Amino acid sequence: MKIGVLGTGVVGRTIAGKLRELGHDVLVGSRSAGEDAVPFADAAAHGELVFNCTNGNASLEALNAAGAENFAGKVLVDVSNAIDASRGRPFVIGVALDDSLGEQIQRAFPEARVVKALNTVNADVMVNPASVPGEHDLFVCGNDADAKARVVELLQGFGWPPERIVDLGDIIAARGQELYLALWLSLMSAVGGAALNIHVAR
Ligand SMILES: NC(=O)c1ccc[n+]([C@@H]2O[C@H](COP(=O)([O-])OP(=O)(O)OC[C@H]3O[C@@H](n4cnc5c(N)ncnc54)[C@H](OP(=O)(O)O)[C@@H]3O)[C@@H](O)[C@H]2O)c1
Repeated sequence: MKIGVLGTGVVGRTIAGKLRELGHDVLVGSRSAGEDAVPFADAAAHGELVFNCTNGNASLEALNAAGAENFAGKVLVDVSNAIDASRGRPFVIGVALDDSLGEQIQRAFPEARVVKALNTVNADVMVNPASVPGEHDLFVCGNDADAKARVVELLQGFGWPPERIVDLGDIIAARGQELYLALWLSLMSAVGGAALNIHVAR
């Protein structure tokens, strides 16, 4: 599949690397073109499906630069988190208690089929879930069932068993997925590393 990955940080590079390993035709998007990145708009136009791996505080800006027309009708996988570290620790997480980046992106780009996914685990765990022993879960949410099914299929390629991917419903569930980062940060300190995830026992 042709896939656009917006973001040149560790997440964008990790996801792009894994997608290429799986045989997908990937272009990575950035504010400026470079040796291994093209402008956001070119990467978004290239993708039949697009990942948002940009800094959460700038995701709307980055996606606007990519151009709404380049998301119309496409699955947009939103991996972003909003972390405000400007006032030091503890970091402020989230855009508001009654909103989320996932919802903001869906509102700003109504023709995109936004699926929130992968933002609850570290970049390495995203593409190598087996690096965390035992059963553990990933979450998806979004308003479009077919879009979520396509993302679940891609995530299976990353190594996530479908029964370990919990569909939380509409994009409003992105609030919980994003606010979870507060707990994730405490867990990382408590266990002394980022190779961790949670298991929903039921
Ligand atoms: N790190 C993790 O393990 C992890 C795990 C889960 C979720 N996340 C989330 O995934 C996203 C990516 O994280 P990351 O650590 O890989 O990278 P990051 O440093 O948070 O973001 C890097 C990307 O954001 C773009 N960017 C920054 N400021 C911008 C602005 N003002 N306008 C437009 N674009 C801007 C950069 O563009 P340029 O390419 O032009 O520099 C770059 O592509 C974040 O939202 C993060 O919260 C991260």
